[in-house]
Amino acid sequence: KFDREDKIDYVFKVVATGDSAVGKTQILSRFTKNSFCFDSKSTIGVEFQTRTLTIKGKVIKAQIWDTAGQERYRAVTSAYYRGALGALVVYDITKRRTFDNVARWVDELRAYADTSIVIMLIGNKADLVDLREVPTEDAVEFAENKGLFFSETSALSGDNVESAFFQLLEEIH
Ligand code: GTP
Repeated sequence: KFDREDKIDYVFKVVATGDSAVGKTQILSRFTKNSFCFDSKSTIGVEFQTRTLTIKGKVIKAQIWDTAGQERYRAVTSAYYRGALGALVVYDITKRRTFDNVARWVDELRAYADTSIVIMLIGNKADLVDLREVPTEDAVEFAENKGLFFSETSALSGDNVESAFFQLLEEIH
């Protein structure tokens, strides 16, 4: 029997950060299980999900860590970021405040994570077009200034989730 565990070339740790309720857990579920949950509960502490995929002929196990955006559930900083090769900084395109807080999340990454970490800014809930509060151009400009990759996604429809992860993992690789 073919056992993928035997074939893994690399394990990549990726961390997800961003305010509470922006959709971090659902983006991860879309990527790892192709599922979405409408009544998703707030993450307490740290959880992780994995997906094994092939990039440029190498079998990569992406181990994606998910932590609580809510301050009172955050028991982590340095331990959470240790060894991470990639990061998703997620905001909600329908909540300006979550975008305004992105700078803070990036500062935390710069403070605790390895300097070579690849960071992808994600504007999630792109399906909610009529409720948009963050213009795409604002995020593009911010990402350029800070040296981040950028994508708008919808965990609900699945739009761009796969491509955002692949871009991030390819950059690490
Ligand atoms: P914390 O665990 O508190 O940090 O939150 P989180 O960032 O992990 O958010 P979560 O994934 O739990 O999603 C929060 C809410 O937003 C849930 O009700 C989801 O169903 C909803 N949601 C997540 N992604 C999308 C999306 O792409 N579109 C829409 N319309 N709703 C979404």
